[in-house]
Amino acid sequence: MSLKDKRILVGMTGGIACYKVPYLVRQLRQAGAEVRVVMTSSATKFITPLTLETVSGQPVALEMFPSNEFIATRHIDMAEWSELVVVAPATANFLGKVAGGICDDFLTTVICATKSPILVVPAMNPNMWQHPPTQKNAAYLKKIGFQFIGPATGEMACDQWGEGRMVEPDEIYTAAVSVLKTTRKKKAPKTPKEKANLSGKRILVTAGPCREPIDPVRYISNRSSGKMGYALAIAAADLGAEVTLVTGPTSLPDPIGMTTISVETTEDMYRAVSGRFSRIDCLIMAAAPADYTPSNVLDQKIKKSGADSTLSLKPTIDILERLGHRKKKQLLVGFALETENGVANARKKLKLKNLDLILLNSPCDPGSGFDHDTNQVTLIRPGRKPDQWPLQNKDALAGRLLDVIVAML
Ligand code: CTP
Repeated sequence: MSLKDKRILVGMTGGIACYKVPYLVRQLRQAGAEVRVVMTSSATKFITPLTLETVSGQPVALEMFPSNEFIATRHIDMAEWSELVVVAPATANFLGKVAGGICDDFLTTVICATKSPILVVPAMNPNMWQHPPTQKNAAYLKKIGFQFIGPATGEMACDQWGEGRMVEPDEIYTAAVSVLKTTRKKKAPKTPKEKANLSGKRILVTAGPCREPIDPVRYISNRSSGKMGYALAIAAADLGAEVTLVTGPTSLPDPIGMTTISVETTEDMYRAVSGRFSRIDCLIMAAAPADYTPSNVLDQKIKKSGADSTLSLKPTIDILERLGHRKKKQLLVGFALETENGVANARKKLKLKNLDLILLNSPCDPGSGFDHDTNQVTLIRPGRKPDQWPLQNKDALAGRLLDVIVAML
């Protein structure tokens, strides 16, 4: 993905992994991003600001109140300028301060002021990472929407081995791209009307595949990436809805500004959705639950015998169908993934599952379905003609679908 004109703020705190950060800054710039660096005074003990100035092509911000420099509201300007903040390396001290709302240096003050997504890349000695307050602080920051990558497990600068290494710059780069793709900066609403769109509405979105275990090491699943569901959850949160995202296993980071619940099996997904159903205004089932699950889950790994083998399967719960029959005021939106007789099959599902709207898509259409960034859908509503939308980016499609949902709600 090109990062052309993306504005990324890289914050560095004190750790030996600082020496790897110039590689990250170079990679981000090579992809077209504009990068500004903030260093704490501890970070400057490990690598010089001049190195970071040279690779970023920008002055490095160091102090909250530098003498002989006009700064005015520099912390707010920087917080607003950024579209993504990456803190690498992030120390235990940094996590503790941010989790406690402390802003006693330039970096923590910018973090406090920004509405941008924040990607935290911890790096510290394994004992420091396992220290209960550090774990508690990291868990709290995740809960309020900070995204984390790492720490990795391996050999440490202190000769110990364990979990605490900063993940490599390549992985940080990939995670940063992914956060930029999936998480939008929270915008201040422009007009009271815009704010009113979905404020006060509770929307539950499901995303991703489910995994049905066969034995302790194997499972049945499908190719769903979760991208469509995540885009819908983000679009709903942007419009002011209170969003819960129930997601099967995906490689996408938890989006900011909503409650994310991770599930594994179709049964887990059913329980997570069913328990919240009576309190929501709208359910969007973009997940790809399994239709069948192994009849018996074995406690031990199945050993190969060399002979043919048959797996016995039993049907899972059809989540939408169950909830369709329980629905009172809730708006129910489903997807129909069809490889043939699309409109007819989608209409059958609309009726059977008692839905208000179904989006037909086909994994066979170019650029559509699993793992693409684009999708082409046909909107089908009871008593109306099918409305075929053009192939478009999943974010744009999510925005357009949310406009329809706003009108229906
Ligand atoms: N769905 C569900 N629970 C299931 C299977 C599917 O809630 N166990 C939901 C999906 O999230 C989707 C809709 O039902 O919104 C239709 O899913 P799809 O896979 O297209 O169809 P199925 O109902 O599973 O039927 P089939 O596989 O025979 O086409």
